[in-house]
This record gives sequence, structure tokens and C-alpha cells, in this order.
Amino acid sequence: MLENKRILLIVAGGIAAVKVPDLIRRLRERGAHVRCVLTKGGAQFVTPLTLAALSGDKVYQDLFSLTDESEMGHIRLSREADILLVAPATADIMAKMATGQADDLATTALLATDKPVMIAPSMNAMMWTHPATQANLLTLQNREVKVVGPGAGDLACGEVGDGRMSEVPEIIAALSRFFQKTQGQGPLAGFRAIVTSGPTHEPIDAVRYIANRSSGKQGHAVAAALAEQGAKVTLVTGPTAEPVPDGVQVQKVETAAQMLKACQAALPAEIVVCAAAVADWKVEGAGVSKIKKGKAPPELKLAENPDILATLSAPGKDRPALVIGFAAETDNLIENAKAKRAAKQCDWIVANDVSPGSGAFGGDSNTVHLVTADGVENWPTLKKRAVAERLAERIAKFAERNL
Ligand code: C5P
Repeated sequence: MLENKRILLIVAGGIAAVKVPDLIRRLRERGAHVRCVLTKGGAQFVTPLTLAALSGDKVYQDLFSLTDESEMGHIRLSREADILLVAPATADIMAKMATGQADDLATTALLATDKPVMIAPSMNAMMWTHPATQANLLTLQNREVKVVGPGAGDLACGEVGDGRMSEVPEIIAALSRFFQKTQGQGPLAGFRAIVTSGPTHEPIDAVRYIANRSSGKQGHAVAAALAEQGAKVTLVTGPTAEPVPDGVQVQKVETAAQMLKACQAALPAEIVVCAAAVADWKVEGAGVSKIKKGKAPPELKLAENPDILATLSAPGKDRPALVIGFAAETDNLIENAKAKRAAKQCDWIVANDVSPGSGAFGGDSNTVHLVTADGVENWPTLKKRAVAERLAERIAKFAERNL
């Protein structure tokens, strides 16, 4: 996957720079071409000579070096690559990237590039969890910067926590996944997925309806992320303003009954993700003419809607191998999510806090917990798009092992 890929490796000033020589070796073993940009800080931890010897190329350090600029300007440097990889990415370089600063060769190349960027953060745990760093991370993710790690463990500063740069194999795997995706292959090639998204509208009469709040952002992002991993995706969506993601087949529906029918028609599939906010009730005997406003408000008789997630999770010959539901909760998030997983017989539940102030409804970010048979994973607050990517990666891992 990395054969002949050109990687501009930007080495910033963190102790994890000592892992960079091994990273270069492993990348070159896989046929990648590596060219290094070394910051002043980076040069405190690893020498330009080491990087030059291992990469087999000149190491670029100075923005205003006459020889560098005449041989290769920072613009060309940043464009003659298939990807820019910042490893280690310090809190400082992340802040500079987020605010668009360009005061040395590394940051100038990062600002001037038209190529994808991946960062492997590395820093002290307090620096990583600091709201400033987390805000910068969100800004970068929002701009489609790929992030690998950091992991948790012993840190060089003597503290323990999140902030360890991902190990070399993880960085290589992330790069491979990235190139797989862009080449339209992907680990989910050959798998079929059904994703429900958006609200349902249950008519009261010709003009009025009952609905749940849902923008469809999360469900649509999941459909897009699964397609990027190579799956053949049918997106069954209620009314939303979200654009249909590329490479996804869409079935537009209004009611829960229609959503269930469309899902069943899309079977068989190996993967189902129910992210729709389905209305629990429909109005019995909803007519096609508009109810006139009278003296007394009309009494609505509600009837239960089908539970799409539970229906698709029920044992049977067409039961997809992996069925995933969402649980939007305001209280006792994890307990309720676990109970929901059991009651609906689905495999995983993505639990998200939608209490007032969480910003989940209609917003771009989500704080979720993945509840599986093995336990609960707490994910950091991420853009809905990043939640979807992470979920799609977990699904791909599951598919690799079990399907
Ligand atoms: O029961 P509750 O609505 O909280 O469950 C949420 C999960 O169940 C979501 O995955 C949602 O898409 C799914 N669901 C469904 N059909 C329903 C109600 C919920 O598929 N009628």
C-alpha cells in the first residue's frame, strides 16, 4: 500500500523524535520515499545526518536557506508529496497549524500544501488534555487533518496518561489505511452496509406531522465513512438537509414504516448501523385532508411504530453479522445504553449524551461511548465526521477478524 508513496515527514521538537529513525526505516522497507523537514526543536532530539542517511535524501531545515530555496522551495517541497506526516506533532506545531502560522520551513510547508496532512501527536498528558490543545485538535480535524494517536502510557516527563506518540506500526497502519481509502479499495470492500439516518415524519394529517429532533449529520457521516472504507452502502434516510455522501446509494423515506421496509428491501447485508431518530409513535388513522382548527384541539390516538433496530437485530437467517444502534440519553448514559443493547439484541451501541448543553443536537461534535459485549470504550469529544471515521475503522477491524 505504501509502495512508491512520497511522504514528507515533518519532525517537530519532542522526545518521540527518537522513534523517527525507525519510522523512516520501516516506511522505506515498504517502498515509500521519505523526505524529511526537521524543525529547530526536532534537531535537539535527532540529527539531520541520521535522517539524511536513513531517508537517502537531503534533510530540509531552513526557510531562508539559499541553497534549499534554489534547489527546492517550500511550496514545491509541500506539493511534491502524496501526504505530509507530522511526527512527532507537538502541542506547539498543532497550535501553529490551527492558527495558520508560518514562521519556519515546517509550518510554511504545512500552510502551503494542497496535499493531505496526518499528525501523530506527542506531548505531556496535561498539555494534550488542555482545552487549548483539544480545541486546536478539533479545528484540525474539521479541516480533514488525519490524526493517529496519541496512546496512553508512561510519558518521558515521568507522568502517566494520554500523550505518547503512536508506535511506528500504528503510524504505518494509519498511513496504509489512508492510501487504501484514497485508492477506493479499503478493508470493507465486498461488504454491504445499511445505515439509517435523520428523523422520521409521522403524519397527523395532510400538513402536520410528529418528528424527533435529528439533523442526520451523524448518520450521513457514518454512511460516508463506511463507503470510504470500501463498503457498498445503502443509506435509508428520513427528511434532512444533509447532502447525500459520495458513493452511497440513498433511499429517501418519511415514516418509520417506510424506513423499515426500505431496510428490509436492502437486505442481505453484513453491517447495519441504525443512527436514525425514529419516531416512537405514529398517529392512528392519520387522514389525507387537513384537520380544521376548531374550538377544542383534536385528540390524537397514537400507535406504536416498529422498532427498526430491534427488528433487524432479531435472530434469523437474514440477520446481519454486526448490528449497531445509537442511544441518545440525557441521564444514566452507560446503564441505559447497556440495557438498550440487551433489549434490542444488537451487537454494539454508540451511546451519546444529548443532555442540554452537550451540543449534540444539530451540532458538529459528539461525545460518545462504544458499548459492546467486551465493555465500554470512552471516546473523546470528536467531530461527528471523526466519530463516524473511528466507528468505521472499528467496524473494519471487526470485519477483518470475524467476517
Ligand atoms: O429506543 P431508542 O429510540 O432510544 O433507541 C435508539 C436506537 O434504536 C437508535 O439506534 C435508533 O436508530 C433505533 N430505533 C429504531 N427504530 C425505532 C426506534 C429506535 O431503529 N422505532
